[in-house]
This record gives sequence, structure tokens and C-alpha cells, in this order.
Amino acid sequence: MQVVVLPDHGWREAWRDAARRLAAAGIPPEQVTWTTAPGLFAAAPLPPERPLSAPRAFVDLADAVLCHRDPERFALLYQLLCRLRQDRRVLDNPADPLVARLHGLAKAVRRDSHKMRAFVRFRELPAAGARRRFAAWFEPDHLIVARNAPFFARRFADMDWTILTPDERADFIGGELSLGAGVPRPDLPDDASEALWATYFTNIFNPARVKLGAMRSEMPVKYWRNLPETRQIPAMLADSERRVAQMRSAAATVAPGRAAQISERYRAAMPKPPEKIDTLDAAAAAARTCTRCDLYCHATQTVWGEGAPDARLMIVGEQPGDQEDLQGRPFVGPAGDVLAEAMGKAGLDRDAVWLTNAVKHFKFKPQMTARGGKRRLHQNPDRQEIDICKWWLDLEQRFIQPKLTLGLGGTAAYALTGRKEGITRRRGKVEDTAAGPVLLSWHPSYILRVPDRAAADRARAQLVEDLTLAAELVA
Ligand code: URA
Repeated sequence: MQVVVLPDHGWREAWRDAARRLAAAGIPPEQVTWTTAPGLFAAAPLPPERPLSAPRAFVDLADAVLCHRDPERFALLYQLLCRLRQDRRVLDNPADPLVARLHGLAKAVRRDSHKMRAFVRFRELPAAGARRRFAAWFEPDHLIVARNAPFFARRFADMDWTILTPDERADFIGGELSLGAGVPRPDLPDDASEALWATYFTNIFNPARVKLGAMRSEMPVKYWRNLPETRQIPAMLADSERRVAQMRSAAATVAPGRAAQISERYRAAMPKPPEKIDTLDAAAAAARTCTRCDLYCHATQTVWGEGAPDARLMIVGEQPGDQEDLQGRPFVGPAGDVLAEAMGKAGLDRDAVWLTNAVKHFKFKPQMTARGGKRRLHQNPDRQEIDICKWWLDLEQRFIQPKLTLGLGGTAAYALTGRKEGITRRRGKVEDTAAGPVLLSWHPSYILRVPDRAAADRARAQLVEDLTLAAELVA
């Protein structure tokens, strides 16, 4: 029996050397014992070195398999090498049990290497010389540090770094790569870039696409504790149900097939527009046949304002949404629910105000759903559409003569004031316009869309605050 004791480090080179000598000497696999446990067996001297060639595919396979933790890998590879000496086509048969098993081991190593290249996170250490210094702790499944160290050396050639793992370590100092024994988990400093990773990860996290199985397979849980970005995962998962419900209620619904018929019937039954627009009712009737811009072509109907014609407060949104387009009334969908709740808290009665939109037709983009249905995705109206529709908004303001107009969101702000700045710094303040004072606040749809719960709660509270101020100003 030939016993080969391989060293803890450099076993890949040692196995190659021993396997070459043994195979060239014709020693059959059953007469060789491979081990990495010195002392258990007495190593016998190896036969002298003789030339031996092996197919390239075997060399590549062996390179990967040697990094696997399976203690049988040395013997299995040697078996294959001996068989290749009889028949060089063995490797062409993927169904061969030995070949299949070795390919399985190689695949696991390649996958582990891929994870290592993706999930090693360096933390900066105080620099000792001109080069910046970094260290990373990683826990691979297999013994892959030596295999992957050259990749990191190429990628991070201009810095000094160390990758530490429980079994092996790689150091790249002054451009020289060296390999050594593993260490217990060290205490590495937090890195400034971790906050960036965490923010990036939080931003790309889509609660509606949470597929824990896929997440765990792409980024197995065992890597999570060493990745700064994944510290957010438990909190994000805990909040994902609420966020999905919120996204769902804010999303466009599937347009029922009847939308087109409603639209046709509505246009056919439309009375002739009045010749003179001298009342609010005449303005409403004229608006029903509006073709001033192209939005009427696809929308179901004009959504005119509603409420008290002598309202002291006029509230202006952006444009009708999916539900509003079908029902012909403003703010009757999810954004309407948010507004109704906020108005209730501010003590405002929907029937006592005039509720309308800056743009009177629904602008949307048809989109196929995963199930082959169609839905209508809200699109912001552009400036030209807002400017054209201002004709109707001006008429509403002229006939209602509100003491105050509350504009919700950027579109209403632009329509009412002509100023293009967003409302972040303008909300809660009254601005003077030719048509009277205008107060600005958040749009309810923004509250539904904003991903961060705290920010949404803040915006909701501010909307109530602004509605309360509006109620006081018109009292
Ligand atoms: N969003 C608006 O701006 N107006 C509506 O009527 C509905 C949603």
C-alpha cells in the first residue's frame, strides 16, 4: 500500500506531483491511500518523477475539485487519472458515475468561488505606508482562497489587503501575494462604505418581489452576517407586507373591458357644448367635450370638479386616476381615501369644498400584466397638457371664487402658481397669485408611494396640518 500524506497547505501542488509519479509508475488506485492527517499513516517514498500528460479538461476539473472539502476528492481524482491512461474519452461521458461525481464537486467549488468574489467586503485599516490597507473576513464552504486570491490581486492591485477565513488566508502586500493558515474570526472595524451599501440595498429592495427562496439561494443566509447591507433584511422583511399592501392600493387597477364602451356611449350621448360659458354648469358641460389636447383620446371621460359651487376652499389635485376616470368623479380611488382621512382629521367636509384636478383627463400608459391582462399605468401630465387644461381650472376658480385654493403636489402647484419649483420647500405656506391665495401641500399619492414608513407618516401628518391651516384660513 502506498500512503501519500498531503500537507495542510499546498496540498494541490503536492497531490499533482504525487499523482503524476504514481500514475506514471502504474500504481493502481486501490493501492494508494491519500490523507491530510500526518501521523495516522507512515508516508512511503514516492516513485521517481516521470513525464505524464493528461487532457486539459482533466487538469481544469482537478484544479476545481482539489478545493472541495470532500476528503475523498484525492482518491477520486486519482481513479479518474488512472482510467484516462486507459481511455482518454472517459471524460466525454458525463453519465459515467465517477465523472458525474467529480463534476458535482467542481460545480460546488465554482459556485462557492462566485459567492466569494461577490460577497467579500473589505474594511479599511489604518495605513502603515503609502498604500491603503484593507481586510476582509469570509467563511466559504470550501478551500477556495488560493484559487481566488489571484482574482482579488488583479482587481485590487493598488492596495494592500488580507482575506481571512477559518482555513486559509491570503495577503497581498506591496504587490506580493502570499497564502497562509486560517484564523479565528477577527474583530474588524466598521467601514464608511458600509452605510453606502446599506442605503443602496434598502433602495433596491422591492417588497413586492420578496422571494425568500431565491434570495437565500443567490445570497445564502450564512453570508448575511458578514455583509453590511443584509443587516437591514429582517427589518425590511418585517415591513414588506405593509409596503406591498400600500403599493397595491396605489397601483393602477386592471382596466375593465367596459372602459371603451363607457367612453363611446358617453361621447355619443354628449349634449352639444354651450355656446357661452357664463356659469359653472356651462363650464362643466363644455369641459365634457374638451379636445383641447390629446388626452381625451384615450381617457374614458372628462372628470370635472365636484362639491359646493360656493365653496370657500377649493382643493386641486393632479389629474384623475384609474378609478376616477371610470367613475367620472375626482378623488374616489386610493389617493381619495388618503385625502378623505386627512380632511376628516382637519374637520373638513368633502361636500363643503370644491374638489378638482389641474388636468381633467386621465393620462396613462397601457401595460401588460404578468397574467396577460392590461392595466393602465399613471403618467404625469407634461407642462403643455397642464397649461392647456388651465383654461378649465381658471374657469372653476372664476365661478367658485374660493377664499383659498389648496394645491396638492407639484402639478397643481405649477398649474396654480406658474412656478416650476417642487413643493418640498413650499408646502405649508400661502402664495399670492392673480386668482387669489394658494396654499400647497403633499399629494396623497406621494404619501402612498413613499417607501419609508416614517417619511410617509410625516407627510400624512403634514397634509393634515396643511388642511387644518386651510380650514382656519377660510373659516
Ligand atoms: N389623484 C389626483 O390628483 N386626483 C384624483 O382625482 C385622483 C388621484
